[in-house]
Amino acid sequence: MKYLIETWGCQMNSHDSEKLEGLLLAAGHVAATGVEEADLVLLNTCSIREKAVHKVFSELGYLAEEKKRRPLLVGVTGCLAQQDQAELFKRAPQVDFVLGTMAIQQLPALLERARAGQKRVMDTALYPDDHLFPADTARRASTAKALVSIIEGCNHACTYCVVPTTRGPERHRPWPDVVAEVRGAVAAGFREVELLGQNVNSFQGGCSFAELLDRVAEVDGLEWIRFTTSHPMNFTPALARTLASNPKVAPFLHLPVQSGSDTVLRRMHREYTVEQYLERLGYLGERSEDLCLSTDFIVGFPGETDADFQATLDLLERVRFDMSFSFIYSPRPGTPALRLQNDLPYPVQQERLARLQARQTELTLASNRRMVGRTLPARIETEGPLDGGHWLARTANWKNVHLQVPAGSQLPFRELVPVRITDAGPHFLRAELA
Ligand code: SAH
Ligand code: SF4
Ligand code: F3S
Repeated sequence: MKYLIETWGCQMNSHDSEKLEGLLLAAGHVAATGVEEADLVLLNTCSIREKAVHKVFSELGYLAEEKKRRPLLVGVTGCLAQQDQAELFKRAPQVDFVLGTMAIQQLPALLERARAGQKRVMDTALYPDDHLFPADTARRASTAKALVSIIEGCNHACTYCVVPTTRGPERHRPWPDVVAEVRGAVAAGFREVELLGQNVNSFQGGCSFAELLDRVAEVDGLEWIRFTTSHPMNFTPALARTLASNPKVAPFLHLPVQSGSDTVLRRMHREYTVEQYLERLGYLGERSEDLCLSTDFIVGFPGETDADFQATLDLLERVRFDMSFSFIYSPRPGTPALRLQNDLPYPVQQERLARLQARQTELTLASNRRMVGRTLPARIETEGPLDGGHWLARTANWKNVHLQVPAGSQLPFRELVPVRITDAGPHFLRAELA
């Protein structure tokens, strides 16, 4: 069959799509160039916020029309599939099969059943070892860094979040498997890996997460290691030391705080107070000029008062995050936060989000401006120049670089080149070859 995989959501989902693609290729299927050409469309979905789910249903609407015209199999996987399970067949009768997030190795089997004409084929069981993928199954995308999952699932219980349901309990990969996969990625030409998990720093695959970073760093030819996401309660002094001292661990930390108000944090069940969060940041010591610190915020959580929101702005001012991702609270099915009284008008939520983002833009700009004039290595992330004539590159601390080079220049994809930062905006740095 000719397949097309469409992916929404986080890095973990992108990586799952790489695994799904590997399974399809191994079963003899081939990639389609677009929906028109595909006999099989697989939607790898996200349900973190309502908007993400809307996008999936709008695509399903389009596929229903396609199906009226010609034979086409439609499969749904990812977090929406795990959450809705058989409900999906009712909400979207055009769906032929549903594959849960903890069962993706069952794709070939499921597909055969659907091709044989079985209706409403589904597997959403928890295969505890589903993360133990045979080496080299994933068909890695042509990106600059290789995604490697180290832990799947989440044992925290934030009251707003679907992930503990959609991804199940934590499953840890044995550390030698992780190192072997990284070695394979380096052999395939990658110089950078990103270790993935809903909570990477609760890793217990035979060593601590800090130790895992050191072991992965020993892989010859590997230059930078990134990781996402970390939970503040699992952030240890040992991890902070590794981040500061291991030259292969890229100086970038994404540590979601969600809110600057203790009352809201308690209602979110984040398991820490603002003071405790700051204490953890304190493990980093004097923040080095290079370390880029990033976070997530949810605004307009049920019951968030003006004072609560002001506390979030105060925290932003105090920490001066280099970047942050912020979202309006989205009520999610099956989550405990649904029971909280949610009477904040949407315009108030929007206004708070806009204020937070406006201030963050200024802080990010200031953070980017501090890089101007420096000469440092950046990794080439595109295989050619973009429309503006520039190439995309990334610094170790994850800043976007628009690299201006003379027309006709050839730069080495995935490799480091020395660049001099000449200018900075809120979204990217401008640079030239040094
Ligand atoms: N495991 C990670 C986050 C995974 S989800 C962590 O704990 O930090 C990524 C981000 O989406 C979260 O940090 C949160 O800011 C946001 N998010 C999750 N559920 C949400 C919801 N119901 N409404 C709005 N934002 C949400
Ligand atoms: Fe969701 Fe909280 Fe788990 Fe992150 S730690 S995935 S926000 S439940
Ligand atoms: Fe979305 Fe699932 Fe990732 S809900 S953010 S795809 S873990």
